[in-house]
Amino acid sequence: MIVFLNGKFVDKEKVQISPDDRGFLFGDGLYEVVLAYNGRPFRLEDHIARLRQGCEFLRINLKYAEDIHEICLKLIDKNNLKDAIGKIYIQVTRGVYKRAHRFPPDEVPASLYISEIEFSPNREHQKNGIKAITVPDDRWEHCDIKTIDLLPNVLAHQKAVDQGGSEAIFVRDGILLEGTHSNFFAVKEGKVFTAPESDRILSGVTRRAVFEICRKFNIDLLEEPIKESILNTFEEAFISSTTLEITPVVNINDLKIGSGNPGSITRLIQEEYHKLVHQEHD
Ligand code: PDD
Repeated sequence: MIVFLNGKFVDKEKVQISPDDRGFLFGDGLYEVVLAYNGRPFRLEDHIARLRQGCEFLRINLKYAEDIHEICLKLIDKNNLKDAIGKIYIQVTRGVYKRAHRFPPDEVPASLYISEIEFSPNREHQKNGIKAITVPDDRWEHCDIKTIDLLPNVLAHQKAVDQGGSEAIFVRDGILLEGTHSNFFAVKEGKVFTAPESDRILSGVTRRAVFEICRKFNIDLLEEPIKESILNTFEEAFISSTTLEITPVVNINDLKIGSGNPGSITRLIQEEYHKLVHQEHD
């Protein structure tokens, strides 16, 4: 597999990353995950825009930002992934420098790593829905920044897996915010609810596509805080993300959501999302 690291395309087996990389030492970096459907990365520009915003927030000066789109297309070509679904992983870190909390000098370049592997979305989960749990949100206060520092997400996700589930939904002050690697939606009285944009959630690229689909089909979508205490009144629930696409949630904390099967609004959004990713050129 060919990957891109700091200006060069190299065989992944031959990649050497310094132990002084700030990503390794401090988790000092950002990432993006993009799916390329038959060689066409879905909404890559939105992912790059979010990465740039993150770089601005963290004060990382990314030299290759303009070239990311082109690099991704080259990787699809070099890895023969034109007829498959490819998962592109983009990571930026503050570069390589001897360990110190303060930023390295300005001349130290940020590191950029991009890989692409073949990927199959979990169709079984998408068809039958998943079980989720809720967990207290113990993340930092900038969840809109897609940092590689994912320890709370990893621990929460593992907790869900240990309990036979597939996603954990973070709860703060009694409000359901988002999953460990997804945005969360609930359906009540035929209306779709999701947490409003803030520094408590990531502004998902897939989330925005859900908004567009709801608009197209005149489905009311409300960005409003969703109380955990009304879980038992949801007719449907689902999560959205680049890799999970639209995945129904049929059980939360061992409580059946609606009938316990994926609901009709979720199904419609899921089907429309599939059409979108396969039709759209970025
Ligand atoms: N994560 N919220 C969180 C905390 C996420 O990590 C993600 C995506 C999302 C959905 O964002 P998008 O629709 O832009 O993929 C929301 C990626 C897929 C991951 O960590 O692998």
